[in-house]
Amino acid sequence: MDKKIAVIRGDGIGPEIVNEAIKVLDAVAEKYNHKFEYTDVDMGGCAIDKWGEPLPKEMLERCLASDSVLLGAVGGPKWDNVPGDKRPEKGLLALRGGMKLYSNNRPAKLWSQLAEASPLKPSIVEKGIDFIVVRELIGGVYFGEHTTVNKDGEETATDIMEYAEHEIERIGRIGFETAMKRRHKLTSVDKANVLDTSRLWRKVMHRLKDEYPEVEYSDMLVDNAAMQIVKDPSQFDVIVTENLFGDILSDEASMITGSIGMIPSSSLGDGGCGLYEPIHGSAPDIAGQNKANPIGTILSAAMMCRFSFDMPSEADAIENAVTKALDAGLRTGDIMQEGCTLVGCKEMGDAILSYLE
Ligand code: IPM
Ligand code: MG
Repeated sequence: MDKKIAVIRGDGIGPEIVNEAIKVLDAVAEKYNHKFEYTDVDMGGCAIDKWGEPLPKEMLERCLASDSVLLGAVGGPKWDNVPGDKRPEKGLLALRGGMKLYSNNRPAKLWSQLAEASPLKPSIVEKGIDFIVVRELIGGVYFGEHTTVNKDGEETATDIMEYAEHEIERIGRIGFETAMKRRHKLTSVDKANVLDTSRLWRKVMHRLKDEYPEVEYSDMLVDNAAMQIVKDPSQFDVIVTENLFGDILSDEASMITGSIGMIPSSSLGDGGCGLYEPIHGSAPDIAGQNKANPIGTILSAAMMCRFSFDMPSEADAIENAVTKALDAGLRTGDIMQEGCTLVGCKEMGDAILSYLE
């Protein structure tokens, strides 16, 4: 198959980790007789420096014209003082919105080789951590109106949180469908004891649940969910939630696996074209030093093969190669353990390449 991949290297460690993922994709293309064609896209801080805005229109168009987008990471302290609407993060939000990627899938899975890295007690970790946060990505307070005005002699800021039924229904469905492919358990997280958006969320979810009788469904308030994720993460299979709650809970979920550098993500809409990126940030403190962990990005490339390109064997091959590199005791600094071999970003990429079958 021929596939066009838009590549956003971004800022900080972005370029290094994306290079390793492309190395792996090229090897996959050769082995399985595909042609991957890459187009560079500037987004984030580097786009601000070059074009004066975080996502120039032409760059969004390049993404829309591709079969999928691979992203490293964006942002950094260099752009901390640019105005809110021109920050690197705005580029990411404009990309998600522009591509209509409403469904963000963030797995929280403990790699057995890295179990010691989890900050949770072994007695909790032993019960297993393997769930997915399905986060609504282009609605809610992120995409509502933001204003700051002078009122009664002081600055007053407002952010509007809005959800329409259809926005809840389409992400709710993804939650149920995801659970159907896994352990048939769905937890819908909201704040229905306080927010109208959450009460509507719950109403729509309850309507949907009758269509999926095979799924064990429950509602959970977001504060309780934050607690349950550290108390007993084994109870979760799929969590579905709105944009801001999903942002917060997915960071918490990744932390308990002990290895944020390992976690990939996919963002999808109704078409096949998705955005694939590791969930970690641009780590400017180690940028350009060959220290970053490329695994989250390499696994994102595997997800791209699986979900956007319908290439499950290719995705399996990449994931197996990562497992083998970990089994061989290779570790980047962020996941280093006693008795293992410390390697750089490039060496980790090379090792995964050598284990591709
Ligand atoms: C994420 C990030 C973004 C978000 C930021 C960078 C805008 O935290 O992808 O989780 O809040 O969605
Ligand atoms: Mg976040």
